[in-house]
Amino acid sequence: MIIFWIIGLLVVFFGLVIIRGAPYVPSQKRYITRALTDLYHLSEHDVLVDLGSGDGVVLRAAAQKGATAVGFELNPILYIITRLLSRCESLVSVYLTDIWLKPLPNATTVVYYFGVKRDKYKLIKKMQHEANRLDRQLKLICYGDMLGSENAIRSDGAYLLYNFAPLQSE
Ligand SMILES: C[S@@+](CC[C@H](N)C(=O)[O-])C[C@H]1O[C@@H](n2cnc3c(N)ncnc32)[C@H](O)[C@@H]1O
Repeated sequence: MIIFWIIGLLVVFFGLVIIRGAPYVPSQKRYITRALTDLYHLSEHDVLVDLGSGDGVVLRAAAQKGATAVGFELNPILYIITRLLSRCESLVSVYLTDIWLKPLPNATTVVYYFGVKRDKYKLIKKMQHEANRLDRQLKLICYGDMLGSENAIRSDGAYLLYNFAPLQSE
């Protein structure tokens, strides 16, 4: 009976999230570390936000480079796993929240996104809205060319770097 409930909860949590965004597929740590070094030189002056932070692998890689790392994750199981795996990392925090509803922290400098093409326009809208609200540039590291390689500042393997500058009107 307990097994039945556990399987049911896993199906509900991992399945329902797909309505609001990408399914859980973790990034590989060595590629993240390379992107946070060669594509965007992450430092202790940065605040990185991972939109849909999964088990927190990106957050911990960012913290290892001295940056403050903030995750937004909708799946309660992944949220708990992140809290457990990151319990010794003082620079890592995670919110159980929907990425499309919660504003970025005001100190955000760079956003990491590994999602689905379906959400391309939602992501552009959110990034532009936040760059306008904070009135400064925000960098976006995307896994995959969901925003188009022609719009990227730089690329490294499967990662692309984008810049969002504030506009006077959205
Ligand atoms: C492809 S995984 C990437 C995980 C992590 N960023 C990484 O690179 O390892 C996408 C993650 O986004 C989460 N997610 C999907 N839609 C979401 C939403 N609307 N709000 C918060 N998290 C969401 C999923 O639960 C999943 O953990």
